[in-house]
Amino acid sequence: MKLNEHFKDIAESYLFSDIAHRVNAYTAANPDKKVLRLGIGDVTLPLAPSVIAALHGAVEEMAHKETFRGYGPEQGYAFLKDSINEHYKRKGVELDSDEIFISDGAKSDLGNILDIFAKDNVVLVPDPVYPVYVDTNTMAGRKIIYMDATAENGFLPMPDYSVDADIIYLCSPNNPTGAAYTKAQLKEWVDYANAKNAVILYDAAYECFITEDDLARSIFQVKGAKTCAIEFCSFSKTAGFTGTRCGYTVVPFALERDGMSANKMWLRRQTTKFNGVPYIVQRGAAAVFTPEGQQQIKQNIAYYQRNAKIIADCMDELGIWYTGGKNSPYIWLKCPNGMDSWQFFDYLLENIQVVGTPGAGFGANGEGFFRLTAFGSEEVTKEAVERIKGLLKK
Ligand code: MLT
Repeated sequence: MKLNEHFKDIAESYLFSDIAHRVNAYTAANPDKKVLRLGIGDVTLPLAPSVIAALHGAVEEMAHKETFRGYGPEQGYAFLKDSINEHYKRKGVELDSDEIFISDGAKSDLGNILDIFAKDNVVLVPDPVYPVYVDTNTMAGRKIIYMDATAENGFLPMPDYSVDADIIYLCSPNNPTGAAYTKAQLKEWVDYANAKNAVILYDAAYECFITEDDLARSIFQVKGAKTCAIEFCSFSKTAGFTGTRCGYTVVPFALERDGMSANKMWLRRQTTKFNGVPYIVQRGAAAVFTPEGQQQIKQNIAYYQRNAKIIADCMDELGIWYTGGKNSPYIWLKCPNGMDSWQFFDYLLENIQVVGTPGAGFGANGEGFFRLTAFGSEEVTKEAVERIKGLLKK
């Protein structure tokens, strides 16, 4: 027996597990200190009332012989897929409901989708990047090449035709930098992918934070995307499902290579390895698309947007360079006083007990940067900002 030797090529623990261990060690050693967590992008507001009502209703259905459900369709119930389809229509995107697959979250599908791709594909990712794209491909032994996302290109790398790639990851609005592609910029990526016979794995988990109309809310708003893109979406950041788990992935019928359909392959993969998201959770997710649900989640998103502004205003006041916060729940800032990412992490934790995410954890170009999340409570965000000002104000 041989274990997968490619695990030797990834860091011993996942970035956010590593941070959690460090913070837990600090709190164990300093039990009297109140730690404020603006690190992992985990939401803090409860689920919307209409989601809770739908969850309760579905639990009740499970209590009666007439309405009880066992195994559901692996790719999700029609009631939820149809609601998502309507949601896409409102964004000007026409889909077939069978192009939509319900999952337990974007992270799982971003990793699992690799089952349908050959091992010798070359993977192109931006640097810095959400670590899941790199770690999952490294585990599978794929070759990864990086494109620089820097302050100079607004953390939005554009295609370079001298580079040959097969699988391209784009995340917009971006985790960790908060930068978001316009539709015109995404069109350039779609043209590149179609020209290179490549596929774009498009992570749209933060789409609900977009406030500007020229920015893309879905890659399928761009002409030509259906022959080269798969889109990953999540209820986590949109509707507070980080602990409830539900997402969806769009695999267009038009995405085919060598006579093989990516949609059929993904269906085959899911029916084999996945038994679907719980009925109760899918009922909760469907409630997000009702008029009341939409109104309620918009209030929650607005709350996080206000937190983002509180953090951004603090950076303005301190004269610290940053991006994000506007179309994104993340503020990506330059570490002050020449500190590197982990030095700044320790400096904040030890002096003011504020936890953020070191930019270096997202890749080499993240070194010297730091990410703060707007998903904390308003109270924690305000207190963290006051502590940061107290520490860094000259
Ligand atoms: C993050 O903090 O980057 C996110 O929580 C990661 C995720 O959604 O998995």
